[in-house]
Amino acid sequence: MEKSRKVFAEILDKAMTEANTMDREELLFSYKGVLYPVTLCSPEVFRAMESLEARSDDVILAGYPKSGTNWVGQILSDLVAVWEKKAQNKASSMNDEELEEFPYLEIGDTGKYERMNKSRSRRVIFTHLRPENLPRSVFKNKAKILLLVRNPKDVATSFYHFSNVMSPLPSYETWDDFFVAFMTKKMAWGCYFEYLSEWNKYTDNENVMTITYEELKENPVLGVKNIAAFFGISLTEKELQNVVERSSFQSMKKNSSKTHGSFGNILFRKGGVSDWKNLFSEDQNKKMDKAFEECIGRTKLGTKLKYEIYCKA
Ligand code: A3P
Repeated sequence: MEKSRKVFAEILDKAMTEANTMDREELLFSYKGVLYPVTLCSPEVFRAMESLEARSDDVILAGYPKSGTNWVGQILSDLVAVWEKKAQNKASSMNDEELEEFPYLEIGDTGKYERMNKSRSRRVIFTHLRPENLPRSVFKNKAKILLLVRNPKDVATSFYHFSNVMSPLPSYETWDDFFVAFMTKKMAWGCYFEYLSEWNKYTDNENVMTITYEELKENPVLGVKNIAAFFGISLTEKELQNVVERSSFQSMKKNSSKTHGSFGNILFRKGGVSDWKNLFSEDQNKKMDKAFEECIGRTKLGTKLKYEIYCKA
């Protein structure tokens, strides 16, 4: 039976309560030119993060907010549970253990990284950070990173709905207001196009594998197989099916109060592709098409996103 992932729910509930007492203008702070929510991140924690000793067997998931990081995070946690079962010949714990730390690297307290340095392998680490803001040891020690990207129109759509129910983030009266903020670099964790452009520099790195939300949605069995192979985790057919089933939108949504507490209600929204068509005006489509083309369109990551398929009306 799955136990509640207490740390996750506790940290989020605390941040939401704190943010409810704050003014909109106080919610974000800037660190090295990127905005972050004050109730979740701090400059002290960013500085402490540099002491993390990354390992070559770490399982790192990098993804901009709303790219499906909780989904792929579930897949990675279950894959590591399969690996542990084999490596240590113990009964599968498939996420049964309570998480010791909040899974997102940049969220926690200043003592988190020293504790992580003592925790056993393999560690599963999620992050919304851009590559240049990760601890230096991540690349130096050749930790493997799964880079998850999603088409920018659905990211913006998902981020808009999320911002309006997630008190640590500034909310928006209208979609038009949000769109302007998204396009003018006012988002927590920074501008998505800059995020893509920075990560694009690492797409040829042998320790970085890129996967898109859309390809995983289209063929989860193949996606999970490829992810497992990248991290050197072998799977029986039954284990593969199990990981795929547990990570389906329906089963994650059903389990969400156990896995994510009250946050689960706002996280698992639609879980599909092309919801942007319900929000974008013709003018907004043109603006985003242009920005995409200018910032990332012809790059390897831009091509991987299949913009013509997923972002054209
Ligand atoms: P929508 O708002 O479009 O529904 P993140 O976890 O990075 O915050 O991303 C959240 C987005 O991923 C939400 O998108 C959410 O519904 C979607 N999502 C969560 N679990 C999913 C799953 N198992 N399959 C597909 N999409 C999922």
